[in-house]
Amino acid sequence: MRVLAWVGLFVLARKGLGWLKFLFGLVRPGLDLTARYGRGSWVLVTGSTDVGSNTESFYDNILNACEGLDVSVVVNNVGVDVLGKYCSLPVKDVQKIIDVNCYPVSMLCHKFIPRLLKRKHAGVVIVSSLAGEFPMAMHNIYSASKAFTDFLARTLAYEYPSLDVLSLRPSEVQTPMTFHKQDMFTITARQCAEGLCRVLGRTAYSEGHWNHQLQGALYNAVPEGLFNHVFMHHIAPEFISKRRLRYFLKTAFC
Ligand SMILES: NC(=O)c1ccc[n+]([C@@H]2O[C@H](COP(=O)([O-])OP(=O)(O)OC[C@H]3O[C@@H](n4cnc5c(N)ncnc54)[C@H](OP(=O)(O)O)[C@@H]3O)[C@@H](O)[C@H]2O)c1
Repeated sequence: MRVLAWVGLFVLARKGLGWLKFLFGLVRPGLDLTARYGRGSWVLVTGSTDVGSNTESFYDNILNACEGLDVSVVVNNVGVDVLGKYCSLPVKDVQKIIDVNCYPVSMLCHKFIPRLLKRKHAGVVIVSSLAGEFPMAMHNIYSASKAFTDFLARTLAYEYPSLDVLSLRPSEVQTPMTFHKQDMFTITARQCAEGLCRVLGRTAYSEGHWNHQLQGALYNAVPEGLFNHVFMHHIAPEFISKRRLRYFLKTAFC
């Protein structure tokens, strides 16, 4: 009995400490990144990977093209999403998510980390997603691909402790991906970047901006089954049809 009481106390203390750490993280200012990485150093942000990106030489070319540059931070930003019930998705979209979201980040980290390790301070940011923190129905392959990037970043953070490795796990951001959706849960791209700068070097994973950190804490506190039941039956149908309408309007008039 006494052992159980001690275990219970330990679990409660851990939870309490976790919450204190979370609240502290919301208000803690970021590091001075200019001082940390050096004024004039370069930040490489990955974008379109183009045809041929599934060969090693493609990534060697990127590394070689950066030869003369003092790259201090590599931000693996590239990513695409697709929403809907898994078997209703076109196979080409499933393939695309794996190709775009998983392969380039793996290769770029493999190529750039040895070079970054030569600097006193350097960083690797992998833009994951809140959808990669727990299985999110109707996001299936996207959710899985972001869990992949999240775990990649977090394992790299252990393997290379001298690097500032960060898995950035935002919720919704006003970008072309969300068709610049605006509501109280969606932050601007600038706010997302500011959130990133506040947590880089401080932690291995974070939602970044305080708004998304709060959303992360809230969603993680809800049992996964309940979250997915509510999401699938009450939120996703409207959410996905609005997305499809925006996509239709964008493609019909562009
Ligand atoms: N927006 C959100 O709500 C949100 C939430 C959580 C996580 N994220 C993540 O944030 C990152 C940036 O997304 P975003 O919101 O800024 O979306 P975005 O504006 O659509 O940008 C996506 C990025 O991926 C690149 N890309 C798209 N299709 C590609 C393809 N077929 N091959 C190679 N590259 C391709 C784009 O390059 P080009 O510009 O050259 O096309 C762009 O750099 C992604 O990893 C996304 O998963 C976004």
